[in-house]
Amino acid sequence: MIFLLIYIATSFVIVLLLIDMKKPKNYAPGPSFLPIVGNYLLYRTMHKKVGYHHLVWTYLSKKYGDVVGMKLGRNLVVAASGPQAIKEVLTREDFDGRPDGFFFRLRTFGKRLGIVFSEGQFWKKQRKFSIQHLRSFGFGKKEMEQMIQDETRSLLDIFENTCDKPIYMHSAFDVSVLNGLWAMMAGERFEIEDERLKKLLQIVNDAFRLVDMSGGLINQMPYLRHIAPNACGYNKIMDVLTRMWQFLEETINDHRKSMCYMQQPRDLIDAFLQKMEYTNDTSFTDDQLMSLCLDLFMAGSETTSNSLGFSMLLMVLHPDVQGKVQDELDREVGRNRLPSLSDKPILKYTEAVLMEIQRRTNIAPLGIAHRAVRDTVLGGYNVPEGTIVLTNLHSIHMDEKLWEDPLEFRPERFLDEKNEIIFDESCFMPFGIGKRRCLGETLGKTNIFLFFTAVLHNFTLDKVDDDNLSLEGFDGVTIAPRPFKVKLTPRC
Ligand code: HEM
Repeated sequence: MIFLLIYIATSFVIVLLLIDMKKPKNYAPGPSFLPIVGNYLLYRTMHKKVGYHHLVWTYLSKKYGDVVGMKLGRNLVVAASGPQAIKEVLTREDFDGRPDGFFFRLRTFGKRLGIVFSEGQFWKKQRKFSIQHLRSFGFGKKEMEQMIQDETRSLLDIFENTCDKPIYMHSAFDVSVLNGLWAMMAGERFEIEDERLKKLLQIVNDAFRLVDMSGGLINQMPYLRHIAPNACGYNKIMDVLTRMWQFLEETINDHRKSMCYMQQPRDLIDAFLQKMEYTNDTSFTDDQLMSLCLDLFMAGSETTSNSLGFSMLLMVLHPDVQGKVQDELDREVGRNRLPSLSDKPILKYTEAVLMEIQRRTNIAPLGIAHRAVRDTVLGGYNVPEGTIVLTNLHSIHMDEKLWEDPLEFRPERFLDEKNEIIFDESCFMPFGIGKRRCLGETLGKTNIFLFFTAVLHNFTLDKVDDDNLSLEGFDGVTIAPRPFKVKLTPRC
């Protein structure tokens, strides 16, 4: 009897394991699934070998085609590469969802909140509310430019006072960049040398290194947090989140104490608190306010300051390009004032340099993960509802069929013979496209333009040593420049 029971149980387990290895019908090509872990072990081995998540998917797309299907832990994951497949994902409503799961809910109290990883009507409403109110506090307007210009002046002062010795540039813009966003969200700014904030931004940066766009190990096998909380990154993520929640809670509580409900809101947090007070809309809650602030803080600071860090690195590596930008600034803006957004249309070479920086450095190489909201088809393959869908933006920015010598840093590729900016949107999309397109694109671009031009207008950047001048940044949700120092020489 006992043997019969063991036999039945074993057969049952074997059948379950075999079912687990089965791919959905007409699923995108990719490696065979193993039971329980799917392709996780293979993925990890490949990641170890090539060093970057996006390079794993690029390698697989060369082997299997523009649409690759895997299973990471319990999650089906499809990655789109190349302009056509990526455009389809970013512009079709079927893919407008965001992944759900343990990791994606961890930062939002076990619920689907915020903007970045919410979806449906809730996401639409919260995105609209945020854009509308950020606009009313200056987003995309002259006030925003003014605010950022003030920040550039403060940073230039610091550079001026410390430029007798080499300065770390990979993180030099962290606080200044956050200040522009924080002014509209919370109506306050931080001193550039504010140690507490610098520390907070550093741990946010560290947290971005721990996971990847598919949610990482902790999402694929959440039970690991009980078995190996350190090894799977759970403890570190919780540490970052706890500090962020504490920081945001203090800010929100200060607003509660100081705001007058009858007056015009001073910033986005005030506007949200008033909305909670005066409407019955149940999507405006305390938890959602925290989650929204967390999303904007995380999405807004890291991406822009990494881009600026890389922009400085590229100028040190390409002194000829740096010189040409400075010549254009001197010619078109003159030496008596800082560049402003109104100069942008005539600063064609500078604009081409900034676009080439974004193409070459690929700060968000896999964008932000999408999710199929219903059973659908991509590139002729079935994509079951719930599948995580990645967009390998790196694959189009670095495709040698679309860009000649893609590894070369060559700003001229964005200029035509009449010196006008030229590019094809389906081959260049650092902010994504479609309804999920980056919410902070205007702010990100304005920050990058104003800080980059202000620094180059006032200083010449030179190498200190060659050791860390590598474009191969740290991997993670975004790519971050490795620490490097430059010598700044004031221009007269
Ligand atoms: C250089 C700077 C930036 C880059 C390269 C960048 C890139 C991106 C990309 C690729 C996406 C994903 C689009 C998709 O899902 O298909 C995204 C989404 C997003 N970004 Fe940015 N971003 C930048 C700056 C900012 C800033 C400054 C903010 C803050 C206001 C911000 C807020 C967001 C938000 C909230 C989303 C999610 C939008 C949604 O799901 O509806 N980003 N960004």
